[in-house]
Amino acid sequence: MSLDLKKAGLEQAKLPKHIAIIMDGNGRWAQKRGLPRYLGHQQGMRALGKVVETAFDLQIPCLTVFAFSTENWNRPQDEIDYIMTQIVKQFDRYAKELSKKNIRVKVIGEQAHLSADVKNVIEKVQELTKNNTQMTLVVAFNYGSKLELTNACQKIASLVQAKKIKIEDITPEVIEENLYTFALPPVDLLIRTSGEMRISNFLLWQLAYSELYFTDTYWPDFNQNSLIEALKVYSLRKRRFGKIGEQNE
Ligand code: IPE
Ligand code: IPE
Ligand code: MG
Repeated sequence: MSLDLKKAGLEQAKLPKHIAIIMDGNGRWAQKRGLPRYLGHQQGMRALGKVVETAFDLQIPCLTVFAFSTENWNRPQDEIDYIMTQIVKQFDRYAKELSKKNIRVKVIGEQAHLSADVKNVIEKVQELTKNNTQMTLVVAFNYGSKLELTNACQKIASLVQAKKIKIEDITPEVIEENLYTFALPPVDLLIRTSGEMRISNFLLWQLAYSELYFTDTYWPDFNQNSLIEALKVYSLRKRRFGKIGEQNE
């Protein structure tokens, strides 16, 4: 491992098992420099590469990143086109490397309405990496939590209608089984960059007991040290899950 935990001031046992990141601030990063917004997305991709590497070195089992939301279709068409082209290019470019590192890639979100080349590259990278076990990289693409929960309700309602389950069989576990994130560990830590303090329709159910960490850093500037800083803050949090302090000691 190329990262010395002790030197970084971290302890393996106090690291989260699942980190979710709202990678925000690409556009403002570029605009602040008088650059077109797409260059912010380009730098944002580089930042993502570094953060994946750091999480991998720290043996974090699961990392989920918000790359494109169901609301991002409301952006100017040229920006959407750039992001769509990038996802195809970057998955094509990094699929083999991710696979070699034993990283499994899982894409969550609504795929039916994506273009054929985006759907194909998603299928390709998921297929290539499906048996990998070191880390799961979840890419939330055309993801919206309200849509995910709506789809889950529809799936469960059709099970009831077909008399496969009874209404009283619907438990939180059944709801979980019908989310895209089924079988992933619970999200321990949510990071949002760029100074915004909102969830923006990301993992509404899954964040029920996550620790929240907000930083003013724009996503393209978020690096290894930024992640380590977030992890240090996380390791000092007291998670109580509704109990009183002593019960968790
Ligand atoms: C996050 O950065 C990337 C996506 C939402 C695709 P933004 O593009 O939202 O950057 P800002 O928030 O406009 O600075
Ligand atoms: C959230 O960022 C979506 C992604 C990071 C992909 P946005 O920039 O779209 O969120 P809002 O519009 O500021 O809430
Ligand atoms: Mg934004």
